[in-house]
Amino acid sequence: MSTMSMRMKFGPWRFTGCLLSTLIMLGMANAGPAVAADGKLTIGTVLPLSGAFANEGAQYQNGIKVFQALHGDTVGKLSVETIARDDQGPSSGDLSRRMTQELIVRNKADVILGYSFTPNAMSVASLLTAAKKPAVIINAATSIITERSPYFVRVSFTTPQIASTLGAWAAKNNIKTAFTIVSDYAPGIDAETWFIKAFTAGGGKIVGSVRAPVTEREYSPYLQRAVDAKPNAIFSFDPGGDFAVAFMKEAEQRGIEKSGIKLLVTGDVVEDQLVPVIGDAIDGVISAGHYQVGLKNPENIAFVKKYKELFGEKAIPNFRAVAGYDGMALIYKAVAKTGGNLDADALMAAFKGMTIESPRGHFTIDPQTRDIVQDVYIRRGEKVDGEWQNVEFDSVKDVKDPAKAAGPPPK
Ligand code: PHB
Repeated sequence: MSTMSMRMKFGPWRFTGCLLSTLIMLGMANAGPAVAADGKLTIGTVLPLSGAFANEGAQYQNGIKVFQALHGDTVGKLSVETIARDDQGPSSGDLSRRMTQELIVRNKADVILGYSFTPNAMSVASLLTAAKKPAVIINAATSIITERSPYFVRVSFTTPQIASTLGAWAAKNNIKTAFTIVSDYAPGIDAETWFIKAFTAGGGKIVGSVRAPVTEREYSPYLQRAVDAKPNAIFSFDPGGDFAVAFMKEAEQRGIEKSGIKLLVTGDVVEDQLVPVIGDAIDGVISAGHYQVGLKNPENIAFVKKYKELFGEKAIPNFRAVAGYDGMALIYKAVAKTGGNLDADALMAAFKGMTIESPRGHFTIDPQTRDIVQDVYIRRGEKVDGEWQNVEFDSVKDVKDPAKAAGPPPK
């Protein structure tokens, strides 16, 4: 028998059989009573715990730990168990799906909290829908993700939400021309699209755009093209970590800020815990983000204090740690609201319209889109008590994801 006819004969059977047994198992996993019979709320986490983004993964986990240290490990009569799985970072959709399936089928997770990267979140959408399992997105920031399954709710941000706020700010603040540099995958393309929409709607002009691989470390050619276009500003997004540090250091070496070209970045590029590593390169850099460690609200003061108590005086939490904390806050609040009913549809109904007083400030889950509505801060790299920080000097209240909200980008 030729390979082709073997594949035709056995391939579809193998595929159908595998899918069926998975769905049967998922059905069984979901067939229990609505109120947890075992007295447990099981939260499965899927995070990058190894590889190039392991430090980011640790931030999410630390935020989860801070939440439980401050708010306990019970909700009503249920004890809370978290089970961690490692999806190893971007470009691992298959692994992310397998880890999620394992958490649902084997560990009987009631809710999933995770997905740092868009491809990983996208890869589990159909699984969540088939299994009827709620997932709180901890970071992945492409607008469309939440539309891929009715069981997604997002506690992070969308890149259009941040980039459009920054684009509108730039146009209002005497920046006439800009060049964009983004990571060449969905959240980067979303960031580019929505920075440009808001900036040009405010009268700005784009003089060029380039996209770099997600794990680019050599930003020299991209920055050279930007400088050659002689813009007033360069806008950039990348998914953080060492790659963001490489971008910032290269920009400093080329004297971008000193030459009078303003650097405008999303919060990912200047994550708070990497600011000491970025060092002088952050001087004067304008960023937009939904959290910075210096926020003075009572929730953030308690959060930072506990973070340092648990992880050391020098440890700095970033927006990812806050997403871990807020993901837990949202799950606890929803379970309290349902009176311990862990049925997926009951939990999803509880998430919709929910408000949280978070270390980032007040936020709401949009009942229509299940996406987060929150304040976006405009910050500048400045020294505070001798240490570099992202310091807020302006903000826009209650920003929705503009890619879903009806009407034009924010003014
Ligand atoms: C994403 O893949 O959606 C992503 C990852 C890291 C970020 C932002 C977005 O900092």
